[in-house]
Amino acid sequence: MKVAKRVEDLPPYLFVEISKKKAAKRAEGVKLADFGIGDPDLPTPDHILNELHSAADDPSNHRYPESEGLPELRSAIAGWMKRRFDLDFDPETEILPLIGAKEGIAHIALCFIDPGDIALVPDPGYPVYSIGTMFAGGESYYLPLTAENNWLPDFSAIPQDICDRATMLWLNYPNNPTGAIATTDFFEEAAEFGRDNNLVVCHDNAYSDVAYDGYSPPAFLQVPGARDTGIEFFSFSKTWNMTGWRIAWACGNADVINALMRVKSNIDSGIPQAIQHMAIAALEGGDDWASKNNLILERRRDRVVDALQHIGLQVIKPKASLYVWARCPEGVSSADFSGRLLDDVGVVVTPGRGYGQYGENYVRLSLTTPDDELEEGVRRIADWTGSS
Ligand SMILES: Cc1ncc(COP(=O)(O)O)c(C=O)c1O
Repeated sequence: MKVAKRVEDLPPYLFVEISKKKAAKRAEGVKLADFGIGDPDLPTPDHILNELHSAADDPSNHRYPESEGLPELRSAIAGWMKRRFDLDFDPETEILPLIGAKEGIAHIALCFIDPGDIALVPDPGYPVYSIGTMFAGGESYYLPLTAENNWLPDFSAIPQDICDRATMLWLNYPNNPTGAIATTDFFEEAAEFGRDNNLVVCHDNAYSDVAYDGYSPPAFLQVPGARDTGIEFFSFSKTWNMTGWRIAWACGNADVINALMRVKSNIDSGIPQAIQHMAIAALEGGDDWASKNNLILERRRDRVVDALQHIGLQVIKPKASLYVWARCPEGVSSADFSGRLLDDVGVVVTPGRGYGQYGENYVRLSLTTPDDELEEGVRRIADWTGSS
């Protein structure tokens, strides 16, 4: 059997490796406190689940869905975008439901990357931006995100020959893994850079509504001119605790949406309709629920940040996202530090190096750990003496 080069070249998916280490520890009888993957432990809200129960009984939902999603879902998305960001979208041409943001992120490279083209990709960053680029035959040029620049890329540092070959730019705020946020000034700069260099700007806003201390993350598409070349990805996964149902959307420039729709309609057959009805219930169910959910996460954030600071680590309290990004002690690599936390106290964190070379010297802790496990983990971290 000949396995294609693009598969041979794939790095192991980060969390698959970590899962193996966790399984080995559990087999030794260690009870882990797991701050690894960003997968909400809290359940999908009842009003959304109830919609699934009734939609499942309706035979019209048992058949192939349309690739472009139900018109009523696209209208509900347009209504939410209007209420949340005061933005207007044509549900027919500017909105496309997805089988999770990950699916759209992976597939959009097939629309705008030919062999030899470049995608500008943040480092550290969500790995799918560069994997999608590689599958399409392109190359990623990594934009360093550093503490000195508030985890924002410096567009002026990108060489002109790279800009000439680039066709796409990826951004992601609130950011995974750093928890950083972007201002609208930065988004304006990104829109201008995209226009000047003829780039499709893709802003991944998967954490748009996971935010704390009264902060409300902006949309890239709110800045003037962003829609000239840009689209934005939103997800039900983190906002409504719906990772298991696989549903999200892209919205923005109609030509970009149309290209993604054409690729997708040749690959998948849409999102199961009962799940689309759940999504409508989520969008139309009011905002109270999300605020309550964020309060739970905010309390967890404070507990985790306090524990990390207690053992002398440098941590900035994130205003949004599900992640706390902590600097490892001087001279200790992220792999060694996360390995020691696992071996010494059974605490699972993700080594920053897994998100790119500029993630080195940091570890990521996810706030999606059930409260009792989180308290145990926080206690173990605070009592740990092996941090330096
Ligand atoms: C930055 C970022 N984008 C996209 C996704 C994927 O979201 P979805 O569950 O909608 O596929 C994740 C998931 O962790 C993420 O961290």
